[in-house]
Amino acid sequence: MQDKILWVLNEQARGDYKSKTSIDFVSPDEVKKVRGFHKNFAEYKVTPLWDLQNLAGELGVSKIWVKDESYRFGLNAFKVLGGSYAIGKYLSEKLGMEIKDLTFDLLKSPEIKKKLGDLVFVTATDGNHGRGVAWAARQLGQKAVVFMPKGSVEARIENIKREGAQVFVTDFNYDESVRMANEYAQQHNGIMVQDTAWDNYVKIPTWIMQGYATIADEVNEQLKGEMPTHIFLQAGVGSFATTIIGYFANLGGENRPVSVIVEPDKADCFYKSAKINDGQPHAVTGGLETIMAGLSCGEPNIIAWDIARDYADAFFSCPDYVSSRGTRILANPLGNDPRVISGESGSVGAGLISLLLEQKAYQEVVKLLKLDQHSKILVISTEGDTDPVRYRKILWDGFWELPEEDSI
Ligand SMILES: Cc1ncc(COP(=O)(O)O)c(C=O)c1O
Repeated sequence: MQDKILWVLNEQARGDYKSKTSIDFVSPDEVKKVRGFHKNFAEYKVTPLWDLQNLAGELGVSKIWVKDESYRFGLNAFKVLGGSYAIGKYLSEKLGMEIKDLTFDLLKSPEIKKKLGDLVFVTATDGNHGRGVAWAARQLGQKAVVFMPKGSVEARIENIKREGAQVFVTDFNYDESVRMANEYAQQHNGIMVQDTAWDNYVKIPTWIMQGYATIADEVNEQLKGEMPTHIFLQAGVGSFATTIIGYFANLGGENRPVSVIVEPDKADCFYKSAKINDGQPHAVTGGLETIMAGLSCGEPNIIAWDIARDYADAFFSCPDYVSSRGTRILANPLGNDPRVISGESGSVGAGLISLLLEQKAYQEVVKLLKLDQHSKILVISTEGDTDPVRYRKILWDGFWELPEEDSI
């Protein structure tokens, strides 16, 4: 196991604004539509934004805010925001209606169901996205078929089956499972609802990305317009991270937060692409083994890559101990800070900031990122304990512990 946290800074991120990739997909007008759609769900509630004052004091910064997506729709992760909005947009087009005139309740109605007929939504997932798609399909009385990578955890498989979806666990990694799902969709007249884009497949992934903007919009409301100085965002295919970056870039312009993309070291395709620095996305292949299952993706979403290249200030590649440390820190609050249940893909940002701010080895990069006593840091815990067995192992048995400081 590689023990070091690696990083690359991106000087292009602060260049001429006009020549950058468009982030209009998360313009205020678009976000209003997304938020309006989500607000109509019976399950919709703004998720908590915790202000970890004691942790911030301990680490020597002004604020650490944690947006807690374990509360989202009772599904223990944020992903349903993307799948539901994409399905809503797809159906609105099919029905010749505007999304602003559509509620999920209307989509569930027998009249609309009759108009739409029987549909099959197909996707690949390491857990959370597939659960969101299966949930939305079941609510609409439609079918979902979900492909999962080799080694998928039983609890995540069961959660998807519980939503009535047909699940295939493949012998391959996430990226190959996406290709298999796509072939299945083509052969069975299914609708591919994937959370990543590739050549000629951008419309649905863009809608999925727009769906994630609800998180950033809630944060902006919860902070009453106060802008974080730094945002640490974990990436699998990068749809989530770059949506949040795009939202805050639209909001803050040149004064947007320092935006940092964080990945597991075994699936660090954004870090690798930034390191190669030829402007193109580059894949990481192989087993992509990491405890951060939701981030175990080797091929960047092509839309997300363009945004990351133009707007992300830094890319970090993190061993698994960074995420397990984040899980333990958030589960064991200091003083009267609230407790946050944060699974392996949710906690890596918190783990990373704790190590950067505590350990001497990172003093240089801390300075370059301008992290100091004035910093107001936002992290998003994108999932709760979606693998309860591993969650307990991290807390009880201290697994994926830190190496000695000297060896870092
Ligand atoms: C909990 C969790 N966090 C973060 C991500 C990363 O999202 P993306 O693949 O859009 O980068 C995922 C993806 O599945 C996830 O499940």
